[in-house]
Amino acid sequence: MSTLSHPPAAPALGAAHTRFHIILTCIIAALAGLLFGLDIGVISGALPFIAHHFGIGDQMQEWVVSAMMVGAAFGALGSGWMAKRIGRKYSLMIGAFLFVLASAGCAFAWSPAALIVGRICLGLAVGVASFTAPLYLSEVAPQSMRGAMISLHQLMVTVGILAAFLSNTAFSGSGNWRWMLGVIAFPAAVLLFSLLLVPASPRWLMSKGREDQARKVLEKLRSDSGAIETELREIKQQLQVKQEGWGLFRHNPNFRRSVWLGMLLQVMQQLTGINVVMYYAPRIFGLAGYGSPHDQLWGTVIVGAVNVTATFIAIGLVDRWGRKPILYLGFTVMALGMGILGGLLQMGITTAVQQMAAVAMLLIFITGFAMSAGPMIWILCAEIQPIKGRDFGIAVSTFTNWVANTVAGATFLTLLNTLGHAQTFWLYALLNATFLGFTLWFVPETKQVSLEQIERNLMAGKRLRELGH
Ligand code: BGC
Repeated sequence: MSTLSHPPAAPALGAAHTRFHIILTCIIAALAGLLFGLDIGVISGALPFIAHHFGIGDQMQEWVVSAMMVGAAFGALGSGWMAKRIGRKYSLMIGAFLFVLASAGCAFAWSPAALIVGRICLGLAVGVASFTAPLYLSEVAPQSMRGAMISLHQLMVTVGILAAFLSNTAFSGSGNWRWMLGVIAFPAAVLLFSLLLVPASPRWLMSKGREDQARKVLEKLRSDSGAIETELREIKQQLQVKQEGWGLFRHNPNFRRSVWLGMLLQVMQQLTGINVVMYYAPRIFGLAGYGSPHDQLWGTVIVGAVNVTATFIAIGLVDRWGRKPILYLGFTVMALGMGILGGLLQMGITTAVQQMAAVAMLLIFITGFAMSAGPMIWILCAEIQPIKGRDFGIAVSTFTNWVANTVAGATFLTLLNTLGHAQTFWLYALLNATFLGFTLWFVPETKQVSLEQIERNLMAGKRLRELGH
């Protein structure tokens, strides 16, 4: 093969080789989503054993659960700054390193306070991963794969949750919560070392003026040399728009609206009650009449499997139905699932049929979430921010996701004890029903609309729900 010396050299790599590179890179980055999921899933199985070991009550248990979310909120906020300074790849590596340390730290915790500190550190890692991985994926994937990559990330989150539920079940015989928490250090170490293989984000390299390196990266990830030059040109053009984050937020009321919408979307996602189920599933199975830890843990595995499976419904429908119809259907299904579950708890669950009906409602709720708000909210949050305030807007919405997650995690047991069992689930049913209205009034339909069009509409002062018109 001849070697050309002038700059826009055609890549010597074949299409199959390029494809291999891009898929490998995306899979490695999406592993960060897997860890996010593992850490969400692990606590529900470990919590009863932790509570027994340290003899702690409901309030302390809520703290153990929520400490990670508090860390994640700050991790997400800080990673906006870190990803800009040291780049996406090294931010992810720092996140992975923290995952290893904090997972081991939690496994060796000698007191509830030590465990809480360990979980805050774990949260920092989760926060970094949940902001940086989708950002990196969207920057290395070819344009035609961008939407799929955000969905792949959510899919990995659900696979991580399922894997944690399975590992919880495996360790439950011995009640060994230390292994449940500690085992996550191994996939984290795999992530850390595999990240050595991935390239830096070409967009970040360009933002640092390292065009030659960016071209080299793209030569590995794109098969068409013409497309590489076009992409480099486009990145250059985009970079002329200076990211103004906070300044733009202070001075531009239209940008404030999109930041507000991103926050609202994430509050809606979390207040569906999804993580109440993820963190306290065994407890909910207990309320539904399944007393043995064995049944409860297998119940959570089924919840995890349904969560993964229903995510495929969203992936298949999102570009055909659009975001809003899917959200309408999802919130309706979730409101019904939570409402009927509350009704069953109110009547008293005594027969086997009632027990099965309660589990069915829980699974219907999970299906409603996974096929709608799970992936859809992350997609919308990435789509609505103008380029000038993109990093800032997404960092704020990710931060909000974790704050709302903390509130839900930190209040569930208290709600059960104060409002009552049925009433707690009715409250969530009511919230889901309210979100139908919010979707109608505030959420834009962004299907097949270019990001530039959304931005033009936002800056022209169009209503939020009309941003996609
Ligand atoms: C949410 C997480 C949730 C997960 C469940 C994600 O989209 O942000 O909070 O635990 O979905 O699959």
